[in-house]
Amino acid sequence: MPVDTGKTAAPLEFRNVTKRYEGTDAAAIKDLSFVVPAGEVCVLVGPSGCGKTTAMRLVNRMIDMTGGEILIDGKSISGRSPADLRREIGYVIQHVGLFPHLNVANNIGTVPRLLGWDRKRIASRSAELLELVGLPAEMGKRYPSQLSGGQRQRVGVARALAADPPLMLMDEPFGAIDPINRDRLQNEFLRLQREIKKTVVFVTHDIDEGIKMGDRIAILREGGELVQYDTPDAILANPADEFVARFVGADRGLKRLALTNLEQVDLDEVTCVREGETISPGTWVDNDIVVVVDGERKPIGEMTRDVSSDSAVTLGSARPVGASIPITASLRDALSLMMTESIRPLLVLDGEGRVAGWVSIDQINKAVRQVPNESAAIDAAGIDLDK
Ligand SMILES: Nc1ncnc2c1ncn2[C@@H]1O[C@H](COP(=O)(O)OP(=O)(O)O)[C@@H](O)[C@H]1O
Ligand SMILES: [Mg+2]
Repeated sequence: MPVDTGKTAAPLEFRNVTKRYEGTDAAAIKDLSFVVPAGEVCVLVGPSGCGKTTAMRLVNRMIDMTGGEILIDGKSISGRSPADLRREIGYVIQHVGLFPHLNVANNIGTVPRLLGWDRKRIASRSAELLELVGLPAEMGKRYPSQLSGGQRQRVGVARALAADPPLMLMDEPFGAIDPINRDRLQNEFLRLQREIKKTVVFVTHDIDEGIKMGDRIAILREGGELVQYDTPDAILANPADEFVARFVGADRGLKRLALTNLEQVDLDEVTCVREGETISPGTWVDNDIVVVVDGERKPIGEMTRDVSSDSAVTLGSARPVGASIPITASLRDALSLMMTESIRPLLVLDGEGRVAGWVSIDQINKAVRQVPNESAAIDAAGIDLDK
């Protein structure tokens, strides 16, 4: 079944928005202005209490603003009925709020049902959305209590996407998930977003998540004041002030590594050998490891150079390949893997799982040091890359 990934996305604009809750002196949001272009992910990031959730709830009119204007697709939301507006906005929150008495398929079908779609169309939409968020079709029959936290969040994302909304609001959507599954959900959402290209406002208090998820980041400080709005790279390279510099952390050089992926790196060449083939020791490059590959250049094992031998390489003498990493991963991922596995080059694999090259600590070192004044960040992080 072809997956209807939807095409619509609308720009969102905050224009001098202020929100003061009744009975409070200080504003929760103060004169907030920024534009999210259609199809981009804007991350709102800042410490707890800085007004992120308030900003989101203003957009779908769960609360009303004290001053200013919010425009979706160039039109002010003030004259819209909140119920209509919410059907056009996908909303994902931390504890996703699935209806416990409805199965997964019916949870996903909530908004389509409100829109009066017929049963057949709702069922097929639920099925394609399950596929889109990487869940098996059978899961549609389960109830929320029978799912893991990560699965529930996927269903939450599917439900928010059900009516193909031009705008998605995601308030700390992965905040309650353990780090490994959070990383997986982030990656899945980024992959999904490349297909669906929605306008997304994504809230987090975690700058690392913001750097990873955002096309742009809006950094807020207490009182809902916008301190800086720019691309992650620009913010890391040039924090607007002390607050931002402290918020993004002393290790911003390292964080920029998260923005460079292995495709952008000049990888070292890998000596590959087909099973049963002979290779002359003189042709082995650099790190003394030869990778045994199948006919498609997919790795099946590896061997260390044996200078005394010029014999045919056989699978029997090879060991399993050491740590490998997909070429779409970032230099930061590569560095973490090196830290947890062993400091040795990692085998980089392309999208089909074929050998693409080696990435070594030297390349990571070089990438960090290309940033002026950033080598200090590496030292500050206590990592000796020259070791
Ligand atoms: N319903 C409310 N009534 C009064 N004050 C509120 C209400 N909701 C939030 N606030 C206050 O508004 C500020 C921003 O809150 P919030 O938007 O939830 O921040 P964040 O999501 O960034 O943690 C905080 O000082 C919070 O105490
Ligand atoms: Mg919040």
